[in-house]
Amino acid sequence: MISLKNKKNPKILTREWDEIAALREEQISSGKDHSANFVLAPAIIEELPKVYYLVDIGCGTGWLTSRASLYSKKTVGIDPSSESVSLAKVRHSRSSITYLADSVEHYSRRRLRPIFDAAISNMAASSSPDLDAFFVASRKILREKGLFIVTIPHPCFWPLYWGYASHPKFRYDKCIAVESEFKIRRQSTQMLTTHFHHPLHRYLSSLISAGFAVEKLRELTGRGFNFPRFMLIVCRAT
Ligand SMILES: C[S@@+](CC[C@H](N)C(=O)[O-])C[C@H]1O[C@@H](n2cnc3c(N)ncnc32)[C@H](O)[C@@H]1O
Repeated sequence: MISLKNKKNPKILTREWDEIAALREEQISSGKDHSANFVLAPAIIEELPKVYYLVDIGCGTGWLTSRASLYSKKTVGIDPSSESVSLAKVRHSRSSITYLADSVEHYSRRRLRPIFDAAISNMAASSSPDLDAFFVASRKILREKGLFIVTIPHPCFWPLYWGYASHPKFRYDKCIAVESEFKIRRQSTQMLTTHFHHPLHRYLSSLISAGFAVEKLRELTGRGFNFPRFMLIVCRAT
């Protein structure tokens, strides 16, 4: 069942990610989630240079934080889902990584100056209840010229893939919360998660007004769906 809603309480969003954390960890570590392991992660890692200080914004259970940390001296993973962060600490810990249960907005308020040389964010901007606040906070913690590598569901094709393009409430040009049972190609679940649909121009204008210059866009295609399912955006903090 898919429900489209105008907004959703951030606490409920975090609870949904808490509830699905163990399953997501199993799906990714077992290799069942082909897109995460073999489409999104390689695309992000390919863009990541060696840096001193890296942050993974919306790190979930830390599987990608750990892989990306091989390219940095120090890494921070932040995510408001405390269940995901607890799993990250157990399953994907390294001495160079610190995991924090926090939203990027709240974390950025506690930072007096930008500290990170690069940030990655895999499918988290589209899970955040306020896109502008998410990008403004991400910019605030990045040093000038810092790299920001973001993946999102492809706004043009994800609604077709996920099955809500023909929903009577769906309008491509409007931002909307999409609540549905979580699925990957090889497994459907009963557990609800929510992502936000935003038209492509909204992602780009939000990044630019937060202080990023967009350097590269890539459309990423996964298995079992012929259109690009994801989009990778590489930006530079201006
Ligand atoms: C689709 S999951 C992706 C998790 C992880 N990046 C991965 O690749 O498995 C989206 C994540 O974004 C996190 N998230 C949502 N809003 C956030 C915010 N404002 N700041 C940081 N993380 C956020 C959620 O808690 C959730 O864990």
